[in-house]
Amino acid sequence: MSIMKVENLTKKFGKFTVLDQINIELEQGEVFGFIGPNGAGKTTTIRSILGILKATEGQISVFGQDAWKDAVEIHKRVAFVPGDVSLWPNLTGGEVIDLFVKLRGNSSESKREMLIKRFDLDPSKKCRAYSKGNRQKVALVAALASDADLYVLDEPTSGLDPLMETVFQTSIQELKAAGKTIFLSSHILSEVEKLCDRVAIIREGKIIETGSLKELRHLMRNQVVIETAKSVTDARALKGVYDYSENNLVYSFQMDPKELSTIANHFNKFDIVNFESVPPTLEALFMHHYTNGGGVEND
Ligand SMILES: Nc1ncnc2c1ncn2[C@@H]1O[C@H](COP(=O)(O)OP(=O)(O)OP(=O)(O)O)[C@@H](O)[C@H]1O
Ligand SMILES: [Mg+2]
Repeated sequence: MSIMKVENLTKKFGKFTVLDQINIELEQGEVFGFIGPNGAGKTTTIRSILGILKATEGQISVFGQDAWKDAVEIHKRVAFVPGDVSLWPNLTGGEVIDLFVKLRGNSSESKREMLIKRFDLDPSKKCRAYSKGNRQKVALVAALASDADLYVLDEPTSGLDPLMETVFQTSIQELKAAGKTIFLSSHILSEVEKLCDRVAIIREGKIIETGSLKELRHLMRNQVVIETAKSVTDARALKGVYDYSENNLVYSFQMDPKELSTIANHFNKFDIVNFESVPPTLEALFMHHYTNGGGVEND
């Protein structure tokens, strides 16, 4: 069953087209990743889905209702973490959480307590006194403690430390296990990779890729730096090696992870003294694949 459907969504601010014919469909029970660089249009898309912004063209339905006209009805079943969390400065974190959870009707005291503990949040502080990361936690706990049918999370882990990032992932996996539907925007490819069934990539207001992670696997190459004792030969042409360069026994390239053992074996013939492999940042990936007008390289 389709929980949310965005059809040919276009949003203009004055003459400036921020979203251009966006199409997204979310099935019941899936975790859907929405990724793209700064200014790509993620938050604008999410605001349109929530009926905060009116689409210039196109249709958006959530639970089969119109995102703009039926926003009030829809919101009763949606939990939301905004991209830039600004809270009421004079309320405590705990009060803000209660407010949000009550707005959605179904509150569970024990779930709220569990999440506050899990995210290591002090709910008694005034919001103005929270750090950026702690403000983010307040918004997250408020959303996750709600019993919603759809969770719309706009870069929910921005400002969280790695420990909290893991806590967040656990919480999303629990929601998924409970059959909830989640729309998650993110910069962090590894986070999306861990959590999401399907992904859409947005760039300059256009969706340039949609599919399962398996289908998008060709975008996921590691940046590898290898140092050897002896001079390496015949590495440039190895399967799974791209953008190869060498400098004084240090070899840098992009690697298809599937070819790791073949590539490592080859280099080890020349005695590896150091091996570093870093997953591509989303930005690096965009730089590599999309600098020439948005087409994906086929190799
Ligand atoms: N109210 C507005 N008026 C004019 N332009 C806007 C408005 N809101 C957003 N934009 C423009 O729309 C584009 C997309 O912005 P948006 O906030 O949706 O990007 P984003 O993908 O969420 O970026 P980030 O990763 O930085 O959060 C940007 O160029 C932004 O300047
Ligand atoms: Mg944003």
